[in-house]
Amino acid sequence: MAIITEEEEEETKPLVPPGSKESTMKNPFPFWFYFTIIFSLATLLFVSLSLYSSQNDPRSWFLSLPPALRQHYSDGRTLKVQVNPDELPIQVFVAESGPAQSENVIVVHGLGLSSYAFREMIQSLGSKGIHGVAIDLPGNGFSDKSMVVVGGDREIGFVGRVKEVYGLIQEKGVFWAFDHMVETGDLPYEEIIKLQNSKRRSLKAIELGSEETAKVLDQVIDTLGLSPVHLVLHDSALGLASNWVSENPQSVRSITLIDSSINPALPLWVLHIPVIREVLLGFSFAFKMLVSLRCSKDMTLSQIEAHRILLKGSNGREAVLGSLKKLNHSFDIALWGNSDAVNGIPMQVIWSKQVSDVWSEEGQRVSKALPKAKFVTHSGSRWPQESKSSELTGYIADFVSAFPISIKRVPEEPIPEKVQKILDEAKAGGDHDHAHAGYTDAYGLGEGWTT
Ligand SMILES: *[C@@H]1O[C@H](CO)[C@@H](O)[C@H](O)[C@H]1NC(C)=O
Repeated sequence: MAIITEEEEEETKPLVPPGSKESTMKNPFPFWFYFTIIFSLATLLFVSLSLYSSQNDPRSWFLSLPPALRQHYSDGRTLKVQVNPDELPIQVFVAESGPAQSENVIVVHGLGLSSYAFREMIQSLGSKGIHGVAIDLPGNGFSDKSMVVVGGDREIGFVGRVKEVYGLIQEKGVFWAFDHMVETGDLPYEEIIKLQNSKRRSLKAIELGSEETAKVLDQVIDTLGLSPVHLVLHDSALGLASNWVSENPQSVRSITLIDSSINPALPLWVLHIPVIREVLLGFSFAFKMLVSLRCSKDMTLSQIEAHRILLKGSNGREAVLGSLKKLNHSFDIALWGNSDAVNGIPMQVIWSKQVSDVWSEEGQRVSKALPKAKFVTHSGSRWPQESKSSELTGYIADFVSAFPISIKRVPEEPIPEKVQKILDEAKAGGDHDHAHAGYTDAYGLGEGWTT
């Protein structure tokens, strides 16, 4: 390695020797020699990066999707969610069905899946008069999978640097560097470095842990006015949503766990391995093999294909692997379920009875850890949501309908300053009607919001 680095340095040095200004003035040959080489390289780079970026262009990606996925996207909507105060908001996709005035069921998927897997479940909840909402956690499905990071000295590697220079050329025009060279006989290295450092924009995969998930759930539930909500957590969603439940037990009407596990059913760790991951995510038959290994043998190829496309699209793999890394492996379901905050929430556990003896024992363990929970079995696999959607929906609808009708909670946020002013003014002047109108207008979150 050391030898190669030395050689490279020696080779690149002549490009910008300190006295290159004089030498190019005296002899134009080196200038045109480098000009030609750099121009050819830049053209090559331009062409290859244009191809690369057109593949990553969201519009062409969307148009290349199978019709069922496009349909799912157009049936849903995106909300903006602020996860960290110093970062830009993230777009979160939600699909919903059913009357907004009824019981709200929000389905949270595990890693490797998305709201698409639950589209039939929310539709059949909707047809039973229940408001079903399925969310794509950031990093999954149609939600943002990466965010732009501005500035900073993050190590971005060779490809990152090439993209930066490409961006700079795009912004300043192809001939900017050459104009500079003709004028000064030198490449504008200093300027490139300065611009690179101040304007560095790199894409960082969104890595979702339970704290981030809590913020996402909080804002989605608040924006859609869903509280109090019936939570349905499939697979690894339990570990992701557990923090939010502990912090907001008053917003949770009930919890249904479907084949819950800290480790996702899909062996996502194999996606760390180069070549293998390209094969698994690049070919439907390979991904189908991975899915039938532990998740489901009953899914159709087109169902599996949709999950592969969503997992593969725009940094999806990096985001999911980042979230996998953040899973809380010391999570203790008994400790969580019997904590003061969670203890009073009605629970139901829906478990597969046909995967394996080991998996059935795991179900028994979960049911022992949550002694108050209702335990029922289904005839599907660990990803039962598509092949056994009506069976699962039946359990959920029965469970949810057994409660007295939910009373929507009034938002507890402090009254916005502007509204408070109107209220104060009204108090002083005795103009109550005006104050009331101002209050509801500014909130705007009433029943009209969700319809
Ligand atoms: C991980 O799980 C343990 C046990 O349930 C819990 O005490 C701890 O707070 C969790 N950590 C995070 C970061 O959520």
